[in-house]
Amino acid sequence: MFIAPRSLLNATPLPLKLFICQFLWILPYLFFANYLERSLLPFRFFCYTDSDFLNVQKPIRQPLSACIKHVFPNTIPNSQCSLNQNIKAKITPNLPTNFEKIIVIRSAPNAINYRDYIRETWKQTFPSEIPVIFVVGKGKSDEVFLEAEKYADILQLDFIDSYFNLTLKMMATYGYFLKHSNVEQIMVINDDTIVNATALMAHSNVSFF
Ligand SMILES: *[C@@H]1O[C@H](CO)[C@@H](O)[C@H](O)[C@H]1NC(C)=O
Ligand SMILES: *[C@@H]1O[C@H](CO)[C@@H](O)[C@H](O)[C@H]1NC(C)=O
Ligand SMILES: *[C@@H]1O[C@H](CO)[C@@H](O)[C@H](O)[C@H]1NC(C)=O
Repeated sequence: MFIAPRSLLNATPLPLKLFICQFLWILPYLFFANYLERSLLPFRFFCYTDSDFLNVQKPIRQPLSACIKHVFPNTIPNSQCSLNQNIKAKITPNLPTNFEKIIVIRSAPNAINYRDYIRETWKQTFPSEIPVIFVVGKGKSDEVFLEAEKYADILQLDFIDSYFNLTLKMMATYGYFLKHSNVEQIMVINDDTIVNATALMAHSNVSFF
């Protein structure tokens, strides 16, 4: 609990006292919210492993316009939309000739530590028929170039990587795989997500969704 010093409260005229008092709840509230956030953390594992969360009955593969109509019934597609631009791939990963499923990890160009961690841990669980690749945009320098040569698991798309461009990253990623493969299922994971590889693998053998 935050308690304003009594001397301060006694010494000040009433309006100021009231003014201070109305903010007294903020600090206790922050502590409480923080406490909830921490104590509920373990429950997150349920979300990651609960099959309900990974189960969507059938993959959605239909024309984009039908999908847009379904999700945004009142929106008229705008041809000027910046997401319509054709994003090229600067670096492409080595992929098997025919794969049905792919795991795509969203990563930032400079997040090599995250990528290395994943390469050393749960990425190895997956057989080569289920490629696990990283997708990045452009960074400040050509930092991913050597890494991509070494591991051949990076798809670098030709736009500036930023939160602002995250939707663009997703659209361009889906676009790339729809154009260059016959993939049926794409699973997208963030590079800073805790992954239960056993659970993910069990689902991959049947179906992601
Ligand atoms: C990506 O985002 C940056 C700002 O974060 C912006 O300057 C840039 O134009 C965006 N688009 C592309 C295609 O890079
Ligand atoms: C990971 O998933 C497996 C299979 O669903 C489960 O048995 C195991 O308890 C999970 N591990 C954690 C840490 O949740
Ligand atoms: C999934 O398939 C892989 C390779 O085909 C196999 O190694 C693994 O044991 C299987 N996992 C489950 C849970 O069936």
